[in-house]
Amino acid sequence: MYETWNSLQEACLQCHKCGLCEGRHNVVFGIGVETAEVMFIGEGPGENEDLQGEPFVGRGGQLLDKMLAAVDLSREKNIYIANIVKCRPPQNRDPLPEEQEACIDWLRNQTALIRPKIIVCLGRIAAAKIIKPDIKITKEHGVFFEKNGVVMMATLHPAALLRNPSQKPGAFDDFLKLREKIHELCDHTYEEA
Ligand code: URA
Repeated sequence: MYETWNSLQEACLQCHKCGLCEGRHNVVFGIGVETAEVMFIGEGPGENEDLQGEPFVGRGGQLLDKMLAAVDLSREKNIYIANIVKCRPPQNRDPLPEEQEACIDWLRNQTALIRPKIIVCLGRIAAAKIIKPDIKITKEHGVFFEKNGVVMMATLHPAALLRNPSQKPGAFDDFLKLREKIHELCDHTYEEA
């Protein structure tokens, strides 16, 4: 385990643990507040993220930022955002189980340093890896689970919402539930700066 954020990030940026390193422009380590009580986990970088080195900066990211803002959350202020895999899978395919497994220790180490109270998984891939392998995202989004003392919830992936706008109200409901849960469990997420 890496004890400091800098040593962890430095090592992660050099990673060659799986084949995804070959096509990358940037390792997309993560972004946000390193003491956040709420952590969001996506699947893996897309094209824009690979080029810019930051998670969720494409159209899906803009939608995510809007939904976050509606419940007073932002990557600048009070959350941290990371992905299951840190390098872009070719043609945005799902990351393979072996790629997820090769990469997951980086995320484990990030989570160990942040010690979030709530984890929100964005989409099925993250939810299956973090919450439970057989999660049914269409039925179980917005449901809170507890694992190792951390409260977890899955919501629909922003890219899925762009493809299926009719699912947006359901996803927005998840964010409202999240806001309630934050009020219940968190100490400084909604504190004024
Ligand atoms: N989709 C993800 O799951 N993560 C990103 O960072 C961008 C798109």
